[in-house]
Amino acid sequence: DHSMHNMTDMQSMMQNKMQPAEFFNLPKNQPLQALPLVKNLSQESGEFKAELNPMLTEVALTEQVKPTFWLYNGMMLPVIDVNLGDKIDITVNNQLTEPTTIHWHGLSVPPSQDGNPHDPILSQQTGRYQFDITSDMSGSHWFHPHTHLLTGKQVAQGLAGLFIVRDPNDPLQHLPEQNLFFSDLKLDETGQIAPNDMLDLMNGREGQFALINGQWQPEVTLSGTERWRLWNGNSARYLNFDFPEDSVEVFLVATDGGLIEKPIKLSSLLLTPGERAEIVISSKDLKPFNLISKAYDRDKMGPVAKEEDIILASVRVVDGKKIDLPSNLAKLTALGEPVVTRQLIYTEEMMPMRFLINGKSHDMNRIDFTAKKGDVELWEVTNNSHMDHNFHLHGPQFQVVEFERNGVITKPDYLLYKDTINIRPGETLRILTQQNHLGIRMYHCHVLEHEDAGMMGQLEVL
Ligand code: C2O
Ligand code: CU
Repeated sequence: DHSMHNMTDMQSMMQNKMQPAEFFNLPKNQPLQALPLVKNLSQESGEFKAELNPMLTEVALTEQVKPTFWLYNGMMLPVIDVNLGDKIDITVNNQLTEPTTIHWHGLSVPPSQDGNPHDPILSQQTGRYQFDITSDMSGSHWFHPHTHLLTGKQVAQGLAGLFIVRDPNDPLQHLPEQNLFFSDLKLDETGQIAPNDMLDLMNGREGQFALINGQWQPEVTLSGTERWRLWNGNSARYLNFDFPEDSVEVFLVATDGGLIEKPIKLSSLLLTPGERAEIVISSKDLKPFNLISKAYDRDKMGPVAKEEDIILASVRVVDGKKIDLPSNLAKLTALGEPVVTRQLIYTEEMMPMRFLINGKSHDMNRIDFTAKKGDVELWEVTNNSHMDHNFHLHGPQFQVVEFERNGVITKPDYLLYKDTINIRPGETLRILTQQNHLGIRMYHCHVLEHEDAGMMGQLEVL
């Protein structure tokens, strides 16, 4: 009958026609490569000057598979590595055929320098970002385009980079470090980067490959005790790390907001798109193990395959120095009592698919809230959608107060500063925020397809 037919058409239209990962024969278990550094063009100390030019770059993953990525300076995931107090000056020559911006995710730079959708750098035009690395900015941050309606696409094409801010007083600075940047790759049958299908638009884009530093299931070498900086740079993939307790001991030492006060022992860690964490990891014996993301069911819509565990890397363990962690890492200050309370509610609508905040879709010409610079505000973000979404707010790191779900309140048992955090369906997140610059700040779900589909709002700081 008619409705049956429509169902079948609908299903086949949404059917994921992706070739399986094995089809492409990408190399696996290759040693993890360190990511390329962005060169500082300034001779002055305390100044970091560079160019970041987005351009089309063919990358040979195999003899046959040579997708054209969009990369800054032709480099896969370049790393900016600077110190507190540095002055940043970055010029962008947009060599793409569409507008772009660069957003400094995690850094509270003035809105005019934050790569907002309001300030596109048009094709073949030059833009410039200048800002100071202030004392509150140490940590593992990143940068990516934030172009109106095109953020997801430009990130999926490869545009992203790491932004590490070092503190000369970092008590962990003597540990050996590795950067692990997780990203997604979806190839079409010709080996080019695939466009989004219907499922990607609903659930967020997930490809065949969960990459680390652009490599598929690389081999990471762990020697003694190391500090690993972890970035979830995926458009939509939730990383649900499960560290094998009989092989390794793991401590959380930093979140989006940089170092936490004391190391916290863990065996699992949920890192949703946009989030970062730093862990200190020590091997217990010399047995190799796999770095796994456990199946995480975020209640995707449509005919999707059941979530499964994924292998992110194999870890080879070699003998090395075991280092004891200091018991205090940093001194954080809590934000004071809020003077304003705001309510945000996530919902979704079918046919057409829309993701909304307070019943509205993002509109560049609408200011959703105004705040006073310096005021401490309590934000309550409730997820009344049927799937998990996370919440990202531009500007200073926010303090996580608590989560509430079915009347049960969960508070972090330590001072926790974040810029991105997950919210389960039916859950309310409460945070304290304090804006420190005048201008427009975006907030949104960091599943990039949801952001582009309108799950974003604007706060104007006056
Ligand atoms: Cu990383 Cu507004 O985004
Ligand atoms: Cu979302």
